[in-house]
Amino acid sequence: MKRILIFLSFILISLSSCTGKSAVVETKSEKEHMDIAVFLYRNDDHFINTLKEAIEETAVKNEKDWGKGTYSFTYFNGKNQNEIQINQIKEAISSGADVLAINIVERGSAKKIIDMAKEADVPIVFFNRQPIDVDMARWDKLYYVGLDGIQSGEMQGEIVADYWNEHPEMDKNGDGILQYIMLQGQYNHQDTILRTKYSIETIKKAGIAVEELAKETANWQRLEADSIITTLLGVYGDRIELIISNNDMMALGAKDAIARRDKEVYIPTVGVDGTSPAIEALEKGELIGTVFNDAKKQGEMVARLSYYLAKGIDPASDLENLESGTYYWIDYEKIEAKKEVVLPVTQKSKIEDVSAQNIEESSETD
Ligand code: BGC
Ligand code: CA
Repeated sequence: MKRILIFLSFILISLSSCTGKSAVVETKSEKEHMDIAVFLYRNDDHFINTLKEAIEETAVKNEKDWGKGTYSFTYFNGKNQNEIQINQIKEAISSGADVLAINIVERGSAKKIIDMAKEADVPIVFFNRQPIDVDMARWDKLYYVGLDGIQSGEMQGEIVADYWNEHPEMDKNGDGILQYIMLQGQYNHQDTILRTKYSIETIKKAGIAVEELAKETANWQRLEADSIITTLLGVYGDRIELIISNNDMMALGAKDAIARRDKEVYIPTVGVDGTSPAIEALEKGELIGTVFNDAKKQGEMVARLSYYLAKGIDPASDLENLESGTYYWIDYEKIEAKKEVVLPVTQKSKIEDVSAQNIEESSETD
């Protein structure tokens, strides 16, 4: 009998040493360390970097409550390429990531990514780039942190309408129509589609007639916007009465192009994001307004949600306003430039020139 017992315990010992820790399969809640993998669509987008910093800060700030060393956030740069990101996600899943926080490169790939995550039972927190509702409904372990693109478009439109009403000189050619250029973000991004549409609709609803001189994509990038506006200034010059940009970085790129021109032109420009360089520009009167897109709050919520999911805590227990148990919405805020700093002197003198010229012309025809 004794012999048999010794033999049995030998078998048990060998079994447990084979599996590493114990013969029992480790469950998520027993894991000592949680890996949260964060995928950025690219790592040189100013706005996304601010958001990433907020994730990092939140992770550090909560170390005491969350348990230092029991979780980590790892970041991946998708280099704006769908295939690269999909492979990164695939690898993270197979190396045991507990939660995926995804700033998706290509919204059309959401289904594929969700299928992979679902099969491995790894929850996803999407942020900033929103998969379509049909995809978000594919599984109950999908979340989204973001803002409503419609709201940002409407706020941009209101800023423009206010400015037009307070500055009749904005109508440079005096035809009662607002001639504008639209600078767009990446084409398939929900914010590009919604900001473009709702900004113009809001301006029209305010009773202002508009004429689109050009609509171009600068892919959210300052340098691309600079080069596009350089070309468009050559084509339209002073006919441009407004530049409306889907984000601040492109608005600033437009301003760079304008500033490089020898001739003094002032073109009211409006962006979205409220990034620090945009706020500086706004204070100098270079932008007529922007719409605050709270990157800090988004980063914080991505970190919180991911942490809860990793630790098996029901996110709804801390976050009351989780719409349909899936969406965490944050509000945009309108930022209008202070009225008195808006119109630079160069513009005023230019308007005086133009009106003097008009008087001359009209007296000639008399
Ligand atoms: C921001 C842009 C940013 C883009 C990235 C938008 O919501 O306004 O500045 O480049 O997201 O996806
Ligand atoms: Ca006009």
